[in-house]
Formats: sequence, C-alpha cells, structure tokens
Amino acid sequence: MSGKTHLSETYKNILVSEIENPKGLKVGLIQLNRPEALNALNNELMTEVVSVLEAFDRDTLTGCTVLTGNAKAFAAGADIKEMAEATSIEMLIRDQFAKWDRIRKLKKPVIAAVSGFALGGGCELAMTCDMIVAAEGAKFGQPEINLGVTPGAGGTQRLTKAIGKAKAMEMILTGKMYSAEEMFSAGLVNKIADNEVYLDEAIELAKEISSKPSIAVQLAKESILKSFDSTIESGLEFERKNFYLLFSTEDKSEGMKAFVEKRKAEWKGK
Ligand code: CAA
Repeated sequence: MSGKTHLSETYKNILVSEIENPKGLKVGLIQLNRPEALNALNNELMTEVVSVLEAFDRDTLTGCTVLTGNAKAFAAGADIKEMAEATSIEMLIRDQFAKWDRIRKLKKPVIAAVSGFALGGGCELAMTCDMIVAAEGAKFGQPEINLGVTPGAGGTQRLTKAIGKAKAMEMILTGKMYSAEEMFSAGLVNKIADNEVYLDEAIELAKEISSKPSIAVQLAKESILKSFDSTIESGLEFERKNFYLLFSTEDKSEGMKAFVEKRKAEWKGK
C-alpha cells in the first residue's frame, strides 16, 4: 500500500486524520473518541485503533503516528462494563489483548499524546507506544488492583522496565494515580507540555521524526525494542546488523555525501 490509508472509512470510536508536514513525511493522527466513557477501551475501539495504526504503518507517505484522547481522558482503562460479567474461559476465548501485540510489531514510531486520565489499559496503551508527551494535568495509574485484578495488557512488564521495580510495585499494588511530573521524573514520559498545547507538541515531535530517513528510523526503533528481550550480546549483534543493512540504502549514501559536501541531505525513504 502506498499513499493510502483507511481514511475513507468512518469509525465508530475513533477520529482519524493525516497532517501534512512540510519538513518530510506526513503524520497520522488517531483520536480516541468515546468521551461518554472516558475513552474506555472496548474491543471494537481497539480493533479500530490497531487497524488504522497498521494502515498508517504501511503507508509509505506517513512517517509517524500520534495517538491521543481528549482533554479529560487519554483512556480510563479497558472497558470494565464489557468485562464485568466475563468468566476466565470467556476472557481466554475472547483473548482481547492479543491484538495489542500488533501495536508492538509496528515498524514506524507511535507517539502517545496524553491528557487527563491514562489509567489501567489507558496507561498500558500509552506505554505500548514508543514515546509519551503528556499534558501537565495528565494522571497515570494502574488501578486494576481496586477491581480485584492486575494489569493485563502489558502493565506489569512495560511499567517495570520503564520506571523500575520499586516504583512499578508501588503503582500497581496501591492502584494510585500519579501526576505527569512524577511520571516524567520516573522516566515514563518524554515531555510535559501545557494542557493547551500537549497535542501540538506531540505532533511537532512526530513531524521532526518524520523528516528523518525513514528506513533508518524504523531500524533504530527495531534495535531499541530488541533491547527489551535480548542479552546485551545478542542486542549488540542485532544493532550492528541493522547498521550494516542501512549501508544499502540510498539515504545512507545521500546522508554521508551531503555531510561531506556541507549541504542538507534530501531523503528518499529508500
Ligand atoms: N470502563 C467502562 N466505563 C468507564 C471506565 C472504564 N474503564 N472509566 C470510566 N467509565 C465511564 C463511567 O462508568 C461513566 O459512565 P456513566 O456516565 O455511564 O456512569 C463515565 O465513564 C464517566 O466516568 P465517571 O463518572 O466515573 O467520571 P469521574 O470523573 O467521576 O471519574 C475516573 C473518573 C476516576 C477515571 C473513574 O471513571 C474511574 O475510576 N474509572 C475506572 C478506572 C479503572 O479502573 N481502569 C482500569 C480498568 S481495568 C483494565 O484496564 C485492565 C487492563 O489491564 C487492560
């Protein structure tokens, strides 16, 4: 697929748009749109999100995607009402979080722009993205313990890797909410912005990344993610092979030539 996303389709739970980027490739924008339920992540919403993320990922004219909610909530978690009556076996058969793994497999970066509540599955969805830009009033938490369960969409793993065992234990075992400032200090959040401009800031970051040579961006992301499930030795080997692989791209030739010739490189994404 090139240059076309699912934009012609209408979605029930999300708004989708594309943002032109004079500096480079376009930015995809997905806005969770169930304000009446604080963007609770029901199955249908997540099916839509994953399918549009994959469409942007395949689109050669898109460099990066921003995933956001609204001022009051990025997302207040998985939809409790949808799960309230379910048995273990029903949850196992439904296996609704399996589709979240497809987000991890995306090649291009995804930035979460978080305002308001990012709780439970909402916090987990933000962590499944590659970077988080937060509004100063954002609140992060894993309150599943208060429902008699634990995080189930990656929280125990990603939060621990992001902020360390002690803080992850505290967050998950108390179920409390934490400010954007605390999560920035803990290392979960890349950047805090004023409530009015957090989305603009996330889009700016996405535009900057979309102006870089896209194959190098994708392989850099792949190598970074590899560090989560490899030893230092196999991770270094993986990184090195991706580095060597980039020497076959036209962008590598152009980038190094432009440096030597003291001019700005013109990327082709090839
Ligand atoms: N699922 C379903 N509906 C939700 C929801 C959720 N996670 N969070 C909020 N809503 C609904 C509320 O039921 C309410 O709907 P009604 O108007 O029909 O009653 C509406 O959104 C507005 O919510 P509140 O009236 O509760 O708003 P508030 O401002 O008073 O409180 C809040 C906000 C503190 C975030 C509160 O809504 C809340 O605690 N939500 C649940 C948070 C939570 O426990 N999340 C974890 C879910 S489990 C999970 O995510 C598992 C996993 O690991 C994937």
